[in-house]
Amino acid sequence: MRILRRETAMLFLAIAFIVLPCFAQDQDNQTEIDRKVNKFLGDNKYRWRDLNVPEADGKILYDLIIENGYKSSLEIGTSTGHSAIWIAWALSKTGGKLITIEIDKRRYDQALKNFRDCGLENFIDARLADAHELVKDLSGPFEFVFIDADKDWYTEYAKAVVPKLETGGCIAAHNVTERSSRRGRGRRGGGGYEVKYHEYMRSLDFMETTLHPDARSGLAVSIKKK
Ligand SMILES: C[S@@+](CC[C@H](N)C(=O)[O-])C[C@H]1O[C@@H](n2cnc3c(N)ncnc32)[C@H](O)[C@@H]1O
Repeated sequence: MRILRRETAMLFLAIAFIVLPCFAQDQDNQTEIDRKVNKFLGDNKYRWRDLNVPEADGKILYDLIIENGYKSSLEIGTSTGHSAIWIAWALSKTGGKLITIEIDKRRYDQALKNFRDCGLENFIDARLADAHELVKDLSGPFEFVFIDADKDWYTEYAKAVVPKLETGGCIAAHNVTERSSRRGRGRRGGGGYEVKYHEYMRSLDFMETTLHPDARSGLAVSIKKK
């Protein structure tokens, strides 16, 4: 009995001296990340000029990850990193990591600088590559995928990532609508690519696809059900 009491006491001491300080350290780290990211996003609020997502849509990506506890993540189309920062900020809280792909060297370089400046570089594996090739080669599995690159390739991206998506995982695609816009019909002769992507995702019976009601620029959110 006395031995048992001593073991219980030792356990409490271990929690007090080992686990709690580690927890406090993690809290301090997260507080510092939050401070840096908040400051960076505040300072750069009106400086996103490279086809970046609006702040409201960045917040939606952040919420999707936090609410579902997603970890392994992929972004197609980094640009200078606005959406990647929102995604990686959420991943800093869920314990995840982001691979993000950009083909344009100037944007890629600026994104790397932005990731360092906001303190999220350890949560982001940024690749300078053609996503048409690289996405096929990535093994996954992924829990969260954000597609925001060349619109006429969206369905091809989806075909490549759906098999690598975990059950319960999410593919969010930017600038997707249900009806064809004039802009969508006119470009590159193909036309209606944002609609074709939506139709393709809706045709997959194991994916549940909705357009996010609060997104500023058409955000299709597809959840893998089985
Ligand atoms: C709409 S912007 C991405 C914006 C970014 N998600 C953000 O919110 O900051 C699309 C980006 O995709 C990149 N892109 C287009 N085709 C690509 C490809 N085949 N591989 C990789 N990146 C590509 C473009 O250079 C561009 O920077």
